[in-house]
Amino acid sequence: MDSAKLSLDGQDYELPVIEGSEGERGVDISRLRGESGAITLDPGYGNTGACESGICFINGEEGILRYRGYAIEQLAEHASFAEVCYLLIYGDLPSAEQLQEFSDGLTYHSMIHEDMKKFFEGYPASAHPMAVLSSMIASLATYYPEAEGRNGDDDLNIIRILAKSKTMAAWAYKKSIGQPLVYPDNRLSYCGNFLNMMFSVPTEDYEVPQVVENALNVLLILHADHEQNCSTSTVRMVASSQANIFAALSAGVCALWGPLHGGANQKVLEMLDMIRQDGSDYKKYVDMAKDKDNEFRMMGFGHRVYKNFDPRATILRKACDEVLEEMGVDDPLLEIAKQLEDVALNDEYFVERKLYPNVDFYSGVLYRAMGIPTNMFTVMFALGRLPGWIAHLKELRDDPTSRINRPRQIYTGPTARDYTQVAQR
Ligand code: SDX
Repeated sequence: MDSAKLSLDGQDYELPVIEGSEGERGVDISRLRGESGAITLDPGYGNTGACESGICFINGEEGILRYRGYAIEQLAEHASFAEVCYLLIYGDLPSAEQLQEFSDGLTYHSMIHEDMKKFFEGYPASAHPMAVLSSMIASLATYYPEAEGRNGDDDLNIIRILAKSKTMAAWAYKKSIGQPLVYPDNRLSYCGNFLNMMFSVPTEDYEVPQVVENALNVLLILHADHEQNCSTSTVRMVASSQANIFAALSAGVCALWGPLHGGANQKVLEMLDMIRQDGSDYKKYVDMAKDKDNEFRMMGFGHRVYKNFDPRATILRKACDEVLEEMGVDDPLLEIAKQLEDVALNDEYFVERKLYPNVDFYSGVLYRAMGIPTNMFTVMFALGRLPGWIAHLKELRDDPTSRINRPRQIYTGPTARDYTQVAQR
C-alpha cells in the first residue's frame, strides 16, 4: 500500500494512501490526531472523503457519471426508474422476476394511511411542497414504529418510502391548488401513477401522455444519485446515529431544498422568467453574475465536482428539444436558456472558473412543459434522489465498521475567563 508523509513540528508521520477502483487516491488520516494531536481542516469538505462507496462514480474533469458502473447516458436511454432504483439500492440490475416483484411493491404500497390525509388539511395552500414532503416522510415513522434501529431499513420500509413519497408529493400539489386528492391507480407505472395523481380530475377522463411519462422516467433517473452531495451526506450523517430511515430521508429532503443544491431548479426557472420579463436581455444577467458586488448568481451553473459539462445537463438539453417539439410546446425560456449557455461558455469569467450548466439548468424547462409548477421542481428532484439516498443509507448501515459521524473543529472563540455579572439585575 502507498503512503504519504506529513511533517509536523519536526515529526514525520506516514499516512496510508488508498486507491479506489477508478484510480482515485485518498490519504487515510484516521490515525493522524491520535499520533500528532492535529486534525485536518477542510471547510465545505471540498477535498475530504467521508467514506468509501461503491454506488456512484463521478469524474468531474471528464464529465463522467455512472451508477454501479453503468453510464448515465445508457441508463437514461434504456432503463426504467424502477430498474435504476433497484440497481442503486441492491447493487445490480434486477432480473425480470426481481423487477416485477420490486415494481409491484412500488405500486401496491402507494396508498398512505387514511389518517395521513388529515395532515394535508392543516397545511396552508401556500405551503411549499418540500416542507410537506419532509414532514410527511418523517411522519411515516409514526405509522411504522418498527423502523427504529438497525432492522428498520428492511426492504419493506424501502418500498414504502419509494411508493408513498410519490403519493405525498402529488397530494401536496393537489392541496396547493384546492383540487381533490387523487388516489393511486395500481394499473399504472411508477411515473404514470404519479402523473395521474398530479393531473387527473374527477370531472373528465385523463390519460397520461406517453411523451410526458417517458420524460419523467428520464428526469427521475438523471436525479437518482450523485455520490456524496450535500443532501446524501446529510442522510448518511443522520443514518450514522442509527436514527430511523424515515428521519434520515426527511433530513435529506430538507438539505436538498436549499437554492444552492436541489432548490436551484426552481431558481433557474425564476431567473429565466425574470430575464424574459426584462426584455430577454440575457447578456445583462451574464454581466451581473460576474459582478462581485452583485449577489446575483447564474443559477443552474457551476458545480463543486464537475469542471466540465454535467452529463445530465447535456442529456436534458437534448431531451428539452425532443419533448417540447413532440408536445408542440414553444417555450421562450428554453431559447433564453440556450442563449445564456452559449454566451457563458464563451465568457472568460465562466471559462476560467470552469462553470458549466449543471443538472438544474434545463430540468425546469422540461418540468414546466410537462405541466409541473415551479414550486414542485425541487420535490421532483427529491423523488428522483430517494433511491440514491436509500442506497447510501443501506451501504452505511450494512458496513460493520461504520461509526457515528462526528467531525472535529478548530476552536477560535474566547479562551477561559471567569464569570462576572454584567447585566445589572
Ligand atoms: C446540485 O453536489 C452535487 O452533486 C449536487 C448536485 C446533485 O446531483 O446532488 O449535482 C445537484 O446541487 C447542482 C448545483 C445546483 N446549484 C446551482 O446551480 C446554484 C448556482 N451554483 C453555485 O452556487 C455554485 O456553483 C455551486 C454551489 C454549485 C458550487 O459552489 P462551490 O463549489 O462552492 O464554488 P464557489 O462558490 O466557490 O465558486 C467558485 C467561483 C467563485 O468565484 P471566485 O470567488 O473564484 O471569483 O465561481 C463563482 C464563484 O463566485 N461561481 C459563480 C457561480 N458558481 C460559482 N459565479 C456566478 N454564477 C454561478 N452560478
